Amino acid sequence: MKDLPRWVWPLALTTTILAMLPLVLIVRARLVPSTQPRIHLIQDMDSQPKYKPQAGSPLFADGRAMRPPVAGTVEHTAIVDNPALTTGRVGERWVDTLPVTADDAVMVRGRQRYEITCAPCHGVSGNGDGPVSKRAETLAEGTWAPPSSLHTDQSRGLALGQIYDTISRVVRNMPSYGAQIGVHDRWAIVAHVRALQRSQHATLAGIPPAEGANLKQGSK
Ligand code: HEC
Repeated sequence: MKDLPRWVWPLALTTTILAMLPLVLIVRARLVPSTQPRIHLIQDMDSQPKYKPQAGSPLFADGRAMRPPVAGTVEHTAIVDNPALTTGRVGERWVDTLPVTADDAVMVRGRQRYEITCAPCHGVSGNGDGPVSKRAETLAEGTWAPPSSLHTDQSRGLALGQIYDTISRVVRNMPSYGAQIGVHDRWAIVAHVRALQRSQHATLAGIPPAEGANLKQGSK
């Protein structure tokens, strides 16, 4: 051993490390997940000429590869020619009857959607005391516009179409929910808001006689 030249040891070490490299690569290839095939000799149509979003193209006069929709294009689910349903008004007049049937399914849906979207601000019972509003008042940053109570004379005086419009578009300090809530869900919410309002201002006259007879003495 003593006679071996000094360079033998570094050489042996380097060779040993290099000899282990393929093993390490194989183990790595087996353990590390990848979305790419390991060996990808045939490219199929993976690389092909195409325009990417926002790219330019000399093919069109305006130089844009992305083409704007043809004028008059409507979404395939768009509701056309039904302004009462889609805008809540006919001409200048607000709609005050529901343009959808308020059956049980619609009422249940309206309550559920109201509780998801509106209750954080307006509160589950519509008093304008939702958790987001309460929290904002605690923080007292001075920027919070308190949501209306839906039981004021002003809110109760709104035509159904106006409540629909309030949801669809911005009203003073309330943001629009038109982008988040579809037309039919908006009407379901409107029906629920009206039901909430009636629940807080119920009179005997509004109750069917058969039901009224069952009411306990003392209720008004
Ligand atoms: C981010 C909080 C917030 C949410 C969520 C919210 N509102 Fe409001 N809402 C307000 C505020 C604030 C006002 C008062 C606007 C004003 O007077 O400046 C208001 C006002 C209203 C009014 C009265 C409008 C009027 O003309 O008097 C109605 C009705 C109403 N909201 C319904 C809804 C319904 C239905 C939803 C759910 C789709 C909803 N709001 C969701 C904050 C909210």
